[in-house]
Amino acid sequence: MSKSLPRLLVIVLLVPVLAAAWLLVQTDHSKNTSTSADFSVPDESIIERGRYLAVAGNCATCHTAPGGEFMAGGLAFETPFGTIYSTNITPDAETGIGNWTGVQFLNSMRHGVRPDGEHLYPVFPYTAFTKVTDEDVAALYAYFQGIPAVRREAPENQLSFPFNQRSLMAFWKGKFFDAGSYEQVDSESEEWNRGAYLVEGLAHCSACHSPRNALGAEDSGRAMAGGEYLDRVPGGALRPWVAPNLTSAPTGLALWPVEEVAAYLKTGLNKYVETYGPMNEVIINSTRHLSETDIEAMAVYLKSLPAHEDELNRAPDSNVLGMGRTVYNLHCGTCHLPTGLGDDESAPRLAGGSLAVQASNPASLINVILYGPELPDPPLPTKRRNPMEEFQYLLTDAEVAAVASYVRSNWGNSAGLVTAEQVAKQR
Ligand code: HEC
Ligand code: HEC
Ligand code: HEC
Repeated sequence: MSKSLPRLLVIVLLVPVLAAAWLLVQTDHSKNTSTSADFSVPDESIIERGRYLAVAGNCATCHTAPGGEFMAGGLAFETPFGTIYSTNITPDAETGIGNWTGVQFLNSMRHGVRPDGEHLYPVFPYTAFTKVTDEDVAALYAYFQGIPAVRREAPENQLSFPFNQRSLMAFWKGKFFDAGSYEQVDSESEEWNRGAYLVEGLAHCSACHSPRNALGAEDSGRAMAGGEYLDRVPGGALRPWVAPNLTSAPTGLALWPVEEVAAYLKTGLNKYVETYGPMNEVIINSTRHLSETDIEAMAVYLKSLPAHEDELNRAPDSNVLGMGRTVYNLHCGTCHLPTGLGDDESAPRLAGGSLAVQASNPASLINVILYGPELPDPPLPTKRRNPMEEFQYLLTDAEVAAVASYVRSNWGNSAGLVTAEQVAKQR
């Protein structure tokens, strides 16, 4: 599917609507937040708490450019609407947030508004960070005011019209954004509530794992049921990835017990999979540094998400399966074993338990086959004898489609057919 066609349609259809909205929202600029949080007395324990929360929010991954200085911004995000750069959030007075008051910082996290009243784009996941309590935002503020200040101007965003009009975000927010900190659910346990607070708030799992509409807003009706977005593959090119279904659907987390969800987030490894690709930076930079109790709580909450089934794909016919079996036996079976069960020394199992294998959208599975699974840096302790190589030069689109279909339709997996066109899209 081409990204440019729907984008063009969206622009053509939206210009008149947005122009009208713009006239209406001219006045709706700065939001005033009243807060009981204390921004004035940061003692050591509050700063330390802020540091922990910044890890939970993975601020550094987005706000530190490759080779750049800590939190000084400049990392590029490619969206269907153009390129957006993360900003400098060190306490430099001119190019960072050194002059911001605590309430101005709270306004950015809770409402996605800058001190000058302009709206921020939701690539900064304030749609999730809005859930963070005033006290936790105050701790984050105390921490950020204490990190080394770096002078560095964020590059100019390159967005197409009308998306380069920040004021139009008021319209988007009116339609798709509810500001407000997390509300305790009394019928659930303390542990569940802590997990929900982290998963839906700072950890912003849904920013990638929820489907989005044509205007880039998360589809709340299908929250965490799997999302597609652009991210890098080994070599640096941008390709669609699917962040799979994390609800209790059979293609989601149904198979993983709470302990295995926790092990994956805490160590990057569990009985079924080990981390590769975009999850590396989530686990390596964020979740593995969180306390056992917080990870347990997140796993408990994740396992409680009601099932949202994926769409079913057609089952592959016997020709495709035959070709897939041949490719598998020749190129995959030596490591993943003919049973698909793998072992500690050769490769993880593909039979039941890999969410990327089972996802109805095969984008991530195809990326793994074409480009090889990108391993975390620093690497995790592993007993693997040999890493998995890339297959982009060895296999044709039809062969990749066949082996993917075979893996998805064998050993109790049932995610169904992958087509050569779907593989071509990932090249
Ligand atoms: C997924 C990537 C991502 C993550 C994670 C992220 N940010 Fe950002 N942030 C951005 C981008 C991109 C922008 C620029 C948005 C814009 O220009 O509208 C931004 C903007 C901001 C701003 C506004 C700064 C300004 O000068 O206008 C603040 C404050 C901020 N982020 C703080 C944080 C904090 C604190 C965390 C961690 C709790 C965090 N961000 C995590 C991507 C991210
Ligand atoms: C930057 C986007 C992004 C964020 C944020 C993110 N994920 Fe993922 N996730 C992905 C992608 C893409 C995949 C599939 C490829 C991979 O495993 O890297 C994935 C895969 C997974 C898998 C399946 C792993 C497998 O091998 O089957 C689990 C479980 C998961 N994510 C949980 C989470 C949780 C919990 C959070 C929040 C703490 C989270 N993710 C945040 C993008 C993301
Ligand atoms: C040299 C051994 C080797 C060969 C050959 C190999 N793999 Fe792998 N594969 C691995 C290893 C090791 C990993 C785990 C990478 C990591 O640490 O995440 C892996 C990971 C995967 C994953 C990700 C599973 C998950 O969700 O965690 C998939 C899917 C996969 N391989 C499919 C294939 C297919 C299909 C083929 C043949 C075209 C193949 N592999 C060939 C060793 C191999």
